[in-house]
Amino acid sequence: MVIFGASGDLTKRLLVPALYNLACDGLLSDNFAVLGTAMEPWTTEQFRERMSTEIPKYQTRKEFDQAVWDRLVARFHYVPGGFTDAALFPALRAEVQRLDAAYGACGNVLFYFAVAPRFFGLLCDRVHESGFKDGPGWKRIIVEKPFGTDLESALKLNREVLANWQENQIYRVDHYLGKETVQNLLAFRFANGMFEPLWNKHHIDNIQFNVAEAVDVEARGGYYDSSGVVRDMMQNHMFQMLAYLCMEVPGSFEPDAIRNEKAKLLQSVRRYTPDEVERNAVRGQYGPSADKPGYRQEKDVNPQSNTETYAAARLYVDNWRWEGVPIYLRSGKALWKRGTEIVVEFKRAPAVIFRGTPVNGLDANRLVFHIQPYQGIEIQFQAKIPGPQMQLQPVHMKFGYGEAFKANRYTGYEVMLYACSHGDATLFSRGDLVEAAWRIAQPIIDHWAATPAEFPNYVRSTWGPKAAADLIAADGRQWHEVVTEDVLKQSPLFRDGDAVFLEQVIMALTPRQLAAGEVVITKGELGREMYLIEQGEIEVLDDEGAAIKVLTDGDVFGEIGVLMSTKRNATCRAKSPTDIYVLSKADFHRILRDNSSFADAIRTVAKERYRVEMTADSLMAE
Ligand code: BG6
Repeated sequence: MVIFGASGDLTKRLLVPALYNLACDGLLSDNFAVLGTAMEPWTTEQFRERMSTEIPKYQTRKEFDQAVWDRLVARFHYVPGGFTDAALFPALRAEVQRLDAAYGACGNVLFYFAVAPRFFGLLCDRVHESGFKDGPGWKRIIVEKPFGTDLESALKLNREVLANWQENQIYRVDHYLGKETVQNLLAFRFANGMFEPLWNKHHIDNIQFNVAEAVDVEARGGYYDSSGVVRDMMQNHMFQMLAYLCMEVPGSFEPDAIRNEKAKLLQSVRRYTPDEVERNAVRGQYGPSADKPGYRQEKDVNPQSNTETYAAARLYVDNWRWEGVPIYLRSGKALWKRGTEIVVEFKRAPAVIFRGTPVNGLDANRLVFHIQPYQGIEIQFQAKIPGPQMQLQPVHMKFGYGEAFKANRYTGYEVMLYACSHGDATLFSRGDLVEAAWRIAQPIIDHWAATPAEFPNYVRSTWGPKAAADLIAADGRQWHEVVTEDVLKQSPLFRDGDAVFLEQVIMALTPRQLAAGEVVITKGELGREMYLIEQGEIEVLDDEGAAIKVLTDGDVFGEIGVLMSTKRNATCRAKSPTDIYVLSKADFHRILRDNSSFADAIRTVAKERYRVEMTADSLMAE
């Protein structure tokens, strides 16, 4: 394996730890060796020392196996040089020939381009010209992302790369395809008979892809400012997941059988006119918080930058299977949490047969693929609450990787290196796929580049711009937020709750975003909901409209009016953009009835905050 860019970040953080994992699992051949090359004037000995210093930091296994590492690193070699240096390639060729003889690699060479994309074409030419392709054995090239920065540059890059190489020698990395949970989408869909009959417009109401990142642009302002989230996440990682989830059943598990279906799917995604981009996509950019800069103040970012750090879109796949089913995607930086989920929401059952029972409305069934950091699959449905009446509660069945498997943690690159060395291109993107993905993204990128944005428009550590919630609300739907126990435990009211109680609350909450100045409770109205603040500020107003109190992250409000069925005794308004969870009256009462310690906590809040004495009976009254 020849690594171009051997002194870089990718090599030490991912490639070498991945090789180490393969060695630990006995999946590296005895005939394997690494030849690193980069500008650093290192010797082989220095390269080995450097990698040996880094590996403890980046290896992913529970225990570090020194003996395996020593055997692996003894196979590392190094030749210094720049890509424009005429002497480098003959030197590499000579070294590869020497190593080939020493290790008995049968002429097989895997070239890994862990370098900036502007070098891909040049490297392809140089490697070809230096005669590497002569002689026995296979020669394959792995190129890192991004593959092009727009449609035109991707097409040009494809032409350059394929000028001297065959498509089946080029392996384009999308590291999402290396994730176990993403690969499992195919296993889930095609190894199980249960869902395939439902996998279409007749049974599925909508699909949501959510890739939230808590990190900001970190030290990558220079790169990111010419990229933005559509290029950085959607065009590649999210469209790959979209293709896996929505493609037709392939004829086999052969790489091209799968990639043909993926390409067909992406080619069927509707491409938007500028007007359609306006209606179907929303962009955002984060502003400063009290202690952290906004995007425009980040290092190497243009202070007037129009680059989006958040995007949400409604897409359609115009084929027989998915016609009319909205597919919502959203991704952003500096959001409230790190979490990637795919939510498949099924059509609701007709509620009419429950008329005359206490059931008022049915929730949709959902299938949630938890991609990361929690890894699992969840099915949400309704169950009858034990007791004499017909009452329902949303519940779920969950499969968690941590409970089902005892596997080590991997970097995601093991499977790609292993697959490439076995000639299996399934996990790599093909030229036509990359092109199809750019054709969907390009109209959005172009329209946004041509029109100024009102940035910044979202606050750090929130759910993102409210416009994204409005986009989906316009269709009568909501983004599905995956709420975890940690979120609830921000609030003293829920902190000591047991697992069953917390589950009940989580399943009953619905998210809602408020713009600054938006009124959420109006004095004198009857309360039908209570609220929990995820982040932001809610002002409680007196009759003159002056703020008498400000509630913030983890606080609840509106619970007394709901509990006692009294009129609201104050107006509450968002002081800043605020994300809240809503708990309906019916759910609140149901949860109270089941959880006496929660009822006690509510009584304490009522007493402290409103000086209201509540008896156990008044709490339970409907
Ligand atoms: C990279 C993007 O491709 O993917 C980054 O350039 C992003 O901006 C990263 O943070 C996310 O990867 P993961 O595996 O952490 O979801």
